[in-house]
Amino acid sequence: MNISTSDDAARWRGRGVIARYRAYLPVTDATPVISLGEGDTPLIFSPRLSAKIGRGCEVFVKYEGLNPTGSFKDRGMTVAVSKAVERGAQTLICASTGNTSASAAAYAARAGISCAVILPAGKIASGKMVQAFAYGAQVVAIDGNFDQALEIVRQLGARQDFAIVNSINPDRIAGQKTAAFEIMEELTDAPDFHLLPVGNAGNISAYWAGYEEFVRLGKGRRRPKMIGFQANGAAPIYRNEVVVRPETVATAIRIGNPASWAQAKRAIADSKGMIDIVSDEEILRAQRWLARAEGIFVEPASAAPIAGLLRASEQRATAHFSGASIPEGSRIVCTVTGHGLKDPEVIMASLALPKPVAPNESEVLRAIAATQS
Ligand code: F0G
Repeated sequence: MNISTSDDAARWRGRGVIARYRAYLPVTDATPVISLGEGDTPLIFSPRLSAKIGRGCEVFVKYEGLNPTGSFKDRGMTVAVSKAVERGAQTLICASTGNTSASAAAYAARAGISCAVILPAGKIASGKMVQAFAYGAQVVAIDGNFDQALEIVRQLGARQDFAIVNSINPDRIAGQKTAAFEIMEELTDAPDFHLLPVGNAGNISAYWAGYEEFVRLGKGRRRPKMIGFQANGAAPIYRNEVVVRPETVATAIRIGNPASWAQAKRAIADSKGMIDIVSDEEILRAQRWLARAEGIFVEPASAAPIAGLLRASEQRATAHFSGASIPEGSRIVCTVTGHGLKDPEVIMASLALPKPVAPNESEVLRAIAATQS
């Protein structure tokens, strides 16, 4: 049997976003590629979400939790770390709500350099904390929030000994825009709406840059309306003011002064999109719904766009976002940014762990019946 080697995909599969999208990224032959095979995540058609919106609309979930460290950050990190190594960096540094630090630590390990991560004490989900230690990062917890951590990182980055890999580093945004490329290639054009959570606002800016670039290059004709969701207690862009003490169960987006605020506003305005808020209750309900109805388990922050979509589907007879109805036959993509396993506490807190029963058939059957009641 002949196995075709002409398939373009065969050349980059498992080699990461730089191999696949080299022509669109700020790399040269002199750039050492530090990759963990990130990107190429599934765009999962979601029949139950589609049915909720109705009227022939199709909803797809871009499952970024399937990247090597369990979040979308890996797409930007491969570019940022490759470029940092090209420039001779020995130590990476970042502030993080947990995912950037996990990703930075992994790519630093891969590159054989060190990585310092500055984290808000007590506000990092346990899975993410475990990752930073597992990959060997130097972990510093501050008695403050993410915004304060990022401020310190900016100051430390001014010294020669640290390379910043937060999304204020444009190499991160360049890498993250590849998710928009993948979506356009898979759907053969952009969707009508793109929904995603917004924290430091790098990702919404990156997606928009990706959509714009492919249209500019004639690789697509349309651009989506960008719809960003912030948590009610951490919604600076929505409220148009810095939130000094952001609070939300979605710790990944517990941010009060996003670094890419201006870029996000531009993406929303240029795309005729919007920024909206969802409550912690809506986030947790959407997280649970997505896991049970579609089999996709995401961390709380990632459920924010699903919460927004569920709310849209429940409003009046026709689904709409804050007054703007969703036209018949729309294609909607929701990026779910991080894996549910990163944040087990949220689910565990609502559970009563089962008491062990005797190891025999009748006791186990009785226990199954009891859990169904
Ligand atoms: N979803 C998850 C799971 C995140 O970890 C983040 C950001 C976002 C959404 C928001 O993306 O910041 O580009 O608007 N996490 C950062 C971190 C802040 O440190 O891991 P954004």
